[in-house]
Amino acid sequence: MNEPILKGIKACIFDAYGTLFNVHAAAVKCKDDLGDKADALSHIWRQKQLEYTWLRSLMRDYRDFWDITQDGLTYAMAAVNLDSPELKKKLLNLYWELEAYPEVPEMLSALRDKKLKRVILSNGSPKMLEAAAQSARITPLLNEIHSVDDIGVFKPDPRVYQMSVDHLYIQPHEICFISSNAWDVAGAAHFGFNVVWVNRFNQPAEGLSGRPKAILKNLEKLPTLIG
Ligand code: LAC
Repeated sequence: MNEPILKGIKACIFDAYGTLFNVHAAAVKCKDDLGDKADALSHIWRQKQLEYTWLRSLMRDYRDFWDITQDGLTYAMAAVNLDSPELKKKLLNLYWELEAYPEVPEMLSALRDKKLKRVILSNGSPKMLEAAAQSARITPLLNEIHSVDDIGVFKPDPRVYQMSVDHLYIQPHEICFISSNAWDVAGAAHFGFNVVWVNRFNQPAEGLSGRPKAILKNLEKLPTLIG
């Protein structure tokens, strides 16, 4: 049992992709089509998707996350020498119904029992996030979904984290922000949130400002950290 180390928290704000939803689930479901290219394709797809959010923010050339997800897949398929419009369509369709990680529903219920608000703050477009939450059957366990699409810039721009503060009418120090993405952890901690890093993929810490208050392997123990 973990000691509650985070006090005075009123809301838990979750990153979506990689934190609540398994971004590699689409490639896993297409394993028969992808063969030994499945892992490489999925990782390049995710990496390019993220790079395009950072680059487009810097270029001030915003496109919504659905466009970016498609552009990332186009690059990834070219990188592993796959040329199949049907497979591309199949992978993209699966992105609308990604699975939640197994511990997610119970963890959200435990936070609800502690009277904590449960919110998603994501780069995803509102439609993508609503669809993913529906298909993972967690919509009733969430209070709000905040999308960067409202402001047209991606994480880790501080305006993104500020958007949730503005929506919730609470202070950054009253918020626990949870992400599996180390760069998102750094951005949110630098902004002033109490951050929990769900280091699902055993990654090293980023050499950036902003440190997490706690590191977990998955979300199971999160409720025990909050007093
Ligand atoms: C998100 C990406 C960063 O959900 O995973 O915002």
